[in-house]
Amino acid sequence: MTSIMRPISHTPLQGKNVVLGVTGSIAAYKAADIASKLVQAGASVDVIMTTSATTFVGTATFEALTHRPVTTGLWQARSELNMDHVALALQADCILIAPATANTIAKLALGIADDPLTATVLATEAPVIIAPAMDADMFASPSTQRNVNTLVEDGAIIAGPANGRLASGLLGKGRLVETHVLEGLVRQAIGRHGDYSGRRVIVSAGGTRQPIDPVRFISNRSTGKMGHRIAEAARDRGADVLLITASDLPYPSGVEVVKAMTVEEMRDTIVPSSSEADLLIMAAAISDFTPAQVSDQKIKKQGQPETSLKLVEVEDFMPLAKGRKLVKVAFAAETNNVEENAKAKTTPKGAAFVVANDISEPGSGFGTDTNRVTFVDSQGNTQQHPLMTKLNVGHAILDYALPLLTKH
Ligand SMILES: Cc1cc2nc3c(=O)[nH]c(=O)nc-3n(C[C@H](O)[C@H](O)[C@H](O)COP(=O)(O)O)c2cc1C
Repeated sequence: MTSIMRPISHTPLQGKNVVLGVTGSIAAYKAADIASKLVQAGASVDVIMTTSATTFVGTATFEALTHRPVTTGLWQARSELNMDHVALALQADCILIAPATANTIAKLALGIADDPLTATVLATEAPVIIAPAMDADMFASPSTQRNVNTLVEDGAIIAGPANGRLASGLLGKGRLVETHVLEGLVRQAIGRHGDYSGRRVIVSAGGTRQPIDPVRFISNRSTGKMGHRIAEAARDRGADVLLITASDLPYPSGVEVVKAMTVEEMRDTIVPSSSEADLLIMAAAISDFTPAQVSDQKIKKQGQPETSLKLVEVEDFMPLAKGRKLVKVAFAAETNNVEENAKAKTTPKGAAFVVANDISEPGSGFGTDTNRVTFVDSQGNTQQHPLMTKLNVGHAILDYALPLLTKH
């Protein structure tokens, strides 16, 4: 049976209320980018600024980006329905404080509520993500460390700070983490009760590199985009995600990541961790061939017109990945007879279905942001999807796999 699907579009932040708290750090200007990205992702963003923050960035910037009023004072009326200082606390699906100063972190740890941001955090039941940004010594100070630990114990999610160049010109741990990391954490917090909540999902990504000698390897054109987007899609739906990747792409936030560059490293991570997983999605392009011998010294030119490299076939380890409740999904990147080749892969791999894509098609395959895929199961049933973003392909895979998982 063949079914032809319409494009799907999962927008987990659509219609969600995010409160963005901005405090008096030199990194406050970066909050404008965070607000913009959250709005672009469909969220309704209410910005609360501390008085100090308004000396770094104007409210007009945030009002223009969010199309909503910015709260700066405790006595500023917001709503006719609620007590003003808790209005945002009640409607928030998530509160993100970025950047968070040492001062605001200290107030939050003590439960002080003398400004609209700290009062809102105190009154909310929504998840709170705090992204510190400050001088490295301020962050390392015993009091800030004590306060951060208290907030973690209270259930807050602390994002960063990152290592790097600080406004002082020094290097250290105090930089605000990147916007994409914070957006990922917001998506995870909002999707935590999604349809994959309580599920362990393992995703492999990227093209493995098989060494020839200490400086050379053979690999393939896989960039890891497909696997990384699947991991994000699963995270956004509440899954506990392990991403095993050979890719150089930035790691998705809110996901456990293990770097595995060779077939052997992939096998040694994936096989043992699959035993307790619900779903294994093998999006990595695992090398089919590997050099017969690996030289421990750089191979020198011999001044000969020809040379050869002996390759041996790599044994597929996907059949070895087994678990009491494990459902497996394989990938097939093909250039011809796509569906037929995909179907032939299901049984030997023990896959519930194969995600097949014709990599010779424009907009599909390696390095692109889009993909056109067909799901093929062992009975030969196929589900054809139109060209979609790789994130939405990830959601389509999760939609198809969900009914196959064992009931909780
Ligand atoms: C130029 C300048 C830059 C500052 N940058 C930071 C910073 O990055 N992180 C921080 O914790 N405090 C920083 N401070 C200190 C805070 O602005 C100060 O502690 C203030 O009371 C914080 O108030 P708030 O937490 O209500 O926003 C900076 C101060 C100045 C004058």
